[in-house]
Amino acid sequence: MKQNLIYLDNAATVWPKPEGVYRFMDEFYRTMGVNPGRSGYDLAIEAGSLLTRLRQRLTKFFGGDEDTPERLIFSYNVTDALNLIIPGLLSPGDHVITTNLEHNSVIRPVNHMVRDHDCEATFLPFDDDGFIDPDDIRRAIRPNTKVVIVNHGSNVIGTLQPLKEIGRLCRDHGITFVVDTAQTAGIIPIHMREMNIDVVAFTGHKALMGSMGIGGLCIRKHVEVRQVRAGGTGVRSVEPYHLEEYPWRLEFGTPNMVGVAALWAGLDWLYGQGVERVHAREMQLAAKLVEGLRAIDGVRLYCCDSLENHLSTVLMNIDGVDPGDVGIMLDVDHNIAVRTGLHCAPLVHTQLGLVDSHGGVRFSVGAFNTDADIEAAIHGVAEIAKWSRERTAKRVLTMPVREGNEPLRIRA
Ligand SMILES: Cc1ncc(COP(=O)(O)O)c(C=O)c1O
Repeated sequence: MKQNLIYLDNAATVWPKPEGVYRFMDEFYRTMGVNPGRSGYDLAIEAGSLLTRLRQRLTKFFGGDEDTPERLIFSYNVTDALNLIIPGLLSPGDHVITTNLEHNSVIRPVNHMVRDHDCEATFLPFDDDGFIDPDDIRRAIRPNTKVVIVNHGSNVIGTLQPLKEIGRLCRDHGITFVVDTAQTAGIIPIHMREMNIDVVAFTGHKALMGSMGIGGLCIRKHVEVRQVRAGGTGVRSVEPYHLEEYPWRLEFGTPNMVGVAALWAGLDWLYGQGVERVHAREMQLAAKLVEGLRAIDGVRLYCCDSLENHLSTVLMNIDGVDPGDVGIMLDVDHNIAVRTGLHCAPLVHTQLGLVDSHGGVRFSVGAFNTDADIEAAIHGVAEIAKWSRERTAKRVLTMPVREGNEPLRIRA
């Protein structure tokens, strides 16, 4: 294992996890790792009880309908959850409005619905600061608009979208509002009823502090979702078709109980710390990072002039250096882990004009980062930017020149 790694890739997955999460996963799997809901003995019932209680707890956490906790569905991750809900809500001829801020976990299932199932889709651009204007959504609504899908917090530029306004608009037009909370669940409070959100899709391994391999949906009780897979449910085995009732309608096979245990312990940690407090601390570090990076000659920052309505995720580039090379230099020379490239959200980079130059360098601050980590990151970037400036200066000096100092064109 790499020693003393400075981990600034928390948007990919939050790491490390609180000690209590590791402990409870281990303890639970050793003492209660049986299949819940499949058998009638005490231990299976006890394991099933954790699953049921987690449904209740997460429904409350997201401000969903507490009287229908069975509509809290577990899946492998948010990608899996979105692949249940997008085809589960859309039918041929329906129109969906979404945004350029989406992750491929929305873009691709939506594109498949367009290509393979005669749906229509509109991808809305964000403004210069990285925000979606609810009026743009209003203008995009058509008589056949069935669903609006919005990424709450961008995994590339960190901006947070105005869910409440968009939710109100969707409610007024009878449109189902789906929110991808991959980057925000556990770090930004979400209240489905107050924000008029119909479906929340979440992943367990990021700010919810759970493990990889678990995510899900919280679905309000008025929303009709078509079941798109089938399999074992552990109950009413004689039925030849998949059960219609929730949670079985959207759950298939043995659940990830170690993931359930991790999410349970992750929530314990979050409640102990306070979601707002964790976010405030991360934003303090993000502000320090932005200030430090902004002062470096040759650094370009994207959509973080203000950090209001922002996550602690910062996108930047260094003039004259490919973002992939910046990532390698940060790793090899400075022991800093970041993510470079297109971040599975190609439309963000397309809109920013960064696709041809291979995207950007993303720093994402997490709950366990320190001031020293941020100082090291600023120092690392400053060194690379200095190296780039010197390299450029050397190139210019050694470039053959015409009379009158006109640079010669170099043939490819
Ligand atoms: C906004 C957003 N949506 C979806 C995903 C996919 O998450 P998962 O890999 O957990 O399905 C990510 C992951 O980075 C994300 O940032």
